[in-house]
Amino acid sequence: MRGIVFRLFFLLAALSVVLAGCKAGLNTQSAEEAESPLVLTPELQAALDEGIVQAEMPTLSVAAAPAVEPSAPLTQSPAVEQASESPRNDGIHDVLNESLAILQDPTQAMAGFPRDRRGEVDWVLALDEGLIEPRADLLGQSEMQILDMDILMKRTQLMPWVLFSHSKHTAWLDCTNCHSALFEPKTGGNNITMNAVLAGEFCGVCHGKVSFSLFVCERCHSVSHPGSGAQWW
Ligand code: HEC
Ligand code: HEC
Ligand code: HEC
Repeated sequence: MRGIVFRLFFLLAALSVVLAGCKAGLNTQSAEEAESPLVLTPELQAALDEGIVQAEMPTLSVAAAPAVEPSAPLTQSPAVEQASESPRNDGIHDVLNESLAILQDPTQAMAGFPRDRRGEVDWVLALDEGLIEPRADLLGQSEMQILDMDILMKRTQLMPWVLFSHSKHTAWLDCTNCHSALFEPKTGGNNITMNAVLAGEFCGVCHGKVSFSLFVCERCHSVSHPGSGAQWW
């Protein structure tokens, strides 16, 4: 008997929730009403616990973290500001630290730098154009050992082939950065897949992290082939 009463209670609770849901769906609510946070009544909680109601919960509103006001006026266009985050609003630097003011603002330092389709600095072009002169070692005493050897990777299905250029990499990196922990030095000797790259392996150890984003596909998939369709870039 008790069990039946309890079940009836839950069913009623569930019904009222469903009805309330329908009402909300039918009514054209004002924006304010629509955003009012969900109130978890004991009945609703019980119905949820029992698994009777599996309504999609509206996301509980969490107070957004207050945006940090940049301490210096921003003179650059929003696009550039967004592309190269200022130390004053990159979410990494301590905005309460007074020394922040002496840090050079990348917005100004990289104002004229070439950018890729996503508005991110194209470091390959920046180096080619002589806009930057990175040191080969801490003291700037040695030179980079550039290897001129291209490798065309063709296991790309309908995507254009990938052109891996050793010269573009060895302008910045040492052989030991890649060989042989990341890649066996043998053409076609590594089972590289896009899934693995997206998961942060192989090329994805650097690309999408310290090097250009994985979402400018055509910077890697740069060689069209008969099956790959027209260039989209
Ligand atoms: C950092 C370089 C890089 C970028 C950027 C990149 N890819 Fe790839 N992708 C590769 C490499 C390397 C392979 C494997 C080629 C091989 O082994 O012959 C590959 C393979 C693929 C394949 C073949 C199937 C598979 O699963 O391996 C597809 C499809 C693919 N990529 C799609 C994309 C798309 C779409 C994008 C952009 C969203 C993209 N890739 C961006 C490097 C890249
Ligand atoms: C950014 C990573 C990276 C760096 C740095 C790098 N390589 Fe490679 N290397 C590769 C990749 C990727 C392949 C191709 C592997 C594949 O096709 O599976 C390769 C292939 C090779 C091969 C095989 C060529 C063939 O004909 O089979 C040799 C040899 C090689 N690299 C030597 C070097 C030397 C020497 C250096 C330094 C001057 C160097 N690599 C720097 C990534 C790199
Ligand atoms: C150890 C780090 C590292 C790995 C691993 C790596 N790259 Fe790179 N790659 C770089 C850096 C650094 C640059 C030059 C600077 C930049 O663009 O950020 C670069 C540049 C490139 C460029 C030149 C793009 C242009 O506009 O000319 C291509 C293409 C590229 N990588 C493809 C690949 C592919 C494909 C793989 C995997 C087979 C790979 N990279 C693995 C670090 C890496």
